[in-house]
Amino acid sequence: MASPGLSGWGFLLLSCIAGSVVQSDPTYETFYFDQKIDHFGFFEDSTYRQRYLVSDTHWRKPGGPILFYTGNEADITVFCSNTGFMWDIAEELGAMLVFAEHRYYGESMPFGNLSYSDPKYLNYLTSEQALADFAILIRFLKGSSESKDSPVIAIGGSYGGLLAAWLRMKYPHVVVGALAASAPIWQFEDSVPCNLYYQALTNIFKKSGPGCAESITKSWSAINRMFQTNDGIRWLSGAFHLCSPLKCQDDAAAFKYWLSETWVNLAMVNYPYPANFLEPLPAWPIKEVCKNLKNPNPDDKELLQNLFLAINVYYNYTGNTPCLNTSQNVAGFLVNNGWKYQACTEMVIPFCSDGVTDMFEPQMWNFETFSDNCYKKWGIRPRPTWITSMYGGKNIMAASNIIFSNGELDPWLVGGVKQSLSDSLVAILITDGAHHLDLRSNNAYDPRSVIEARALEVAYMKKWIKEHSQQVNRI
Ligand SMILES: *[C@@H]1O[C@H](CO)[C@@H](O)[C@H](O)[C@H]1NC(C)=O
Ligand SMILES: *[C@@H]1O[C@H](CO)[C@@H](O)[C@H](O)[C@H]1NC(C)=O
Ligand SMILES: *[C@@H]1O[C@H](CO)[C@@H](O)[C@H](O)[C@H]1NC(C)=O
Repeated sequence: MASPGLSGWGFLLLSCIAGSVVQSDPTYETFYFDQKIDHFGFFEDSTYRQRYLVSDTHWRKPGGPILFYTGNEADITVFCSNTGFMWDIAEELGAMLVFAEHRYYGESMPFGNLSYSDPKYLNYLTSEQALADFAILIRFLKGSSESKDSPVIAIGGSYGGLLAAWLRMKYPHVVVGALAASAPIWQFEDSVPCNLYYQALTNIFKKSGPGCAESITKSWSAINRMFQTNDGIRWLSGAFHLCSPLKCQDDAAAFKYWLSETWVNLAMVNYPYPANFLEPLPAWPIKEVCKNLKNPNPDDKELLQNLFLAINVYYNYTGNTPCLNTSQNVAGFLVNNGWKYQACTEMVIPFCSDGVTDMFEPQMWNFETFSDNCYKKWGIRPRPTWITSMYGGKNIMAASNIIFSNGELDPWLVGGVKQSLSDSLVAILITDGAHHLDLRSNNAYDPRSVIEARALEVAYMKKWIKEHSQQVNRI
């Protein structure tokens, strides 16, 4: 693994958008709102156009609630069409749906096509600026007589879940509550040990078939042995049907990184029904993968051939993939550099593996190396303690009305809130849930645990809405 910290959140992104096709075709209107580029200083006074999407088909006027998706690190239309839960409950709640794009993603570029051209333009890519955008947009949305008494509920998944929770913490006068789905709010700094993520991932593979995690553990040394000879390197290129053959020992790191990425991504899309977004996949794809990895003790070549069959479940389920491309980032067409920049500034997430309690090669978390890489790429250095200073780390008892939902089949669970902290900081665990399965559309194959979780989430939202209307009536 090259640098898990840098790439970890790329995986988060993938998980947000991968999954089944949306069932109901969401129809919405697209709007743009002029936002200050810098909410926290006065010298940079220009504005940019923030995109947001609105569906008010079911909105009960006046005063019906607004469900506000706090957009995360991709084009907002992706989240709009992959957060079926909001579309499913809009009618029941009489809610308006709003999907707000995160600055520096999709069309919401503060400096147009220059936004990514220089670190000085990227300077305004922070979670604080994004939250301020959301707060100001909500103020604007509540500017009419029909909406002025509308309670707003923040909803988000993954990084979007962090933003939803943080919006409620920092702007409790703006949103009455938040649903933070699969938000690894404690993955920062040393709130949880750096090896938990890969351990959790390994356990998912262990549970998905006998011999599976063990085969993957053994594959790394088998690959290393292959890379020792030119014949071995040639053999590997053929056995894995690679588009461009591996050339020399130097290619080993990238090859192994690509494999690691594949295992990580599989866990993210381990949904109970066939899914088709980035890669068409069968139901419970890790079980399918593991069917090929039952025997952890054959010779190197047989082990690696099995490994090829296993990753082919991910890359070639349709049978239409002519060859495997190791330089292809699986989420490549969606991950712009924005998340990498965020990971190099505020969103520093330590990752490590030990090769004993997890199925990966040992890799220490080395902040200095990480920081140097960030400096080389962006000319900036990360501030790994800032998120905790800003949002409280484990000390969030002063907050209220936040649901933290997590799937037990999601390795990001390890950084999530797994036990309720108070009556209004509620944890919901979804036994058979992968990464924010609860935000996806109802599906005939949904496990009972996610159906129950969604029902509970709606019940809390109704409670917040009711409390809000009681307050409005009192004033
Ligand atoms: C940005 O767009 C402008 C006008 O559309 C164009 O002239 C310019 O070359 C572009 N710059 C970059 C860095 O792409
Ligand atoms: C994908 O599957 C098809 C059909 O089984 C096969 O012909 C093709 O070689 C496979 N591609 C790779 C990369 O293995
Ligand atoms: C492999 O993927 C990279 C990155 O997406 C692309 O530039 C390259 O053309 C691909 N190679 C082949 C042979 O498809």
